[in-house]
Amino acid sequence: MENNPLFLNRSSFGNTLHIGNILSEKEAKTLLNDWVKNDKLQVHMKQVAHLMKAFANSKGYGELIVQKWYLAGLLHDADWDQWPDQHCKKIIEELESRQIDPEIIRAIASHGPRYFGVEPISEMDKMLYAFDELSGFVHAYSLMRPEGYLGMEVKGVKKRLKDKTFAAQVSREDVQDGSERAGIPLEELIQFVISNQGDADLN
Ligand SMILES: [Fe+2]
Ligand SMILES: [Fe+2]
Repeated sequence: MENNPLFLNRSSFGNTLHIGNILSEKEAKTLLNDWVKNDKLQVHMKQVAHLMKAFANSKGYGELIVQKWYLAGLLHDADWDQWPDQHCKKIIEELESRQIDPEIIRAIASHGPRYFGVEPISEMDKMLYAFDELSGFVHAYSLMRPEGYLGMEVKGVKKRLKDKTFAAQVSREDVQDGSERAGIPLEELIQFVISNQGDADLN
């Protein structure tokens, strides 16, 4: 793996003594609004949070775990707006100083293995990585469709993925890699995003 300026150069995050310690919905939204002034980025973070929550719910996980998945999604890019050169070091250190559950922190730290040098290990890590780029891509596609998410099909998304000029900033490599690491076929993952993302609460 080549070196990258955003490499975290560490493999342990948070403290296991803090397992189960999560931010309240209000604390998380306050942090989001204080740190992220870019509305489009907020939309992205809320959409990823929604997908994470929907996925954890689909697995039948309990309330605390579902909330952990949601928070990892909601805060994964919290420092990208104001401190892009410290992404995602700054949010990790903030959550560590607040003694937040290490599993949430680790998921955030591994949401871009090529960029941060941290491998996704847990299911939550892997799903955050898998949803991150795909979520933004499907959102971009919804914006160019007159009916948005309504009637959207997997094959339409796949066609756009092959068109390298469409949403060119989305790394096709990461989309593919995310699906492989999650062990979920790309078609299935796309269908999950199509079926769930339109319902995300963007407030
Ligand atoms: Fe990110
Ligand atoms: Fe992201």
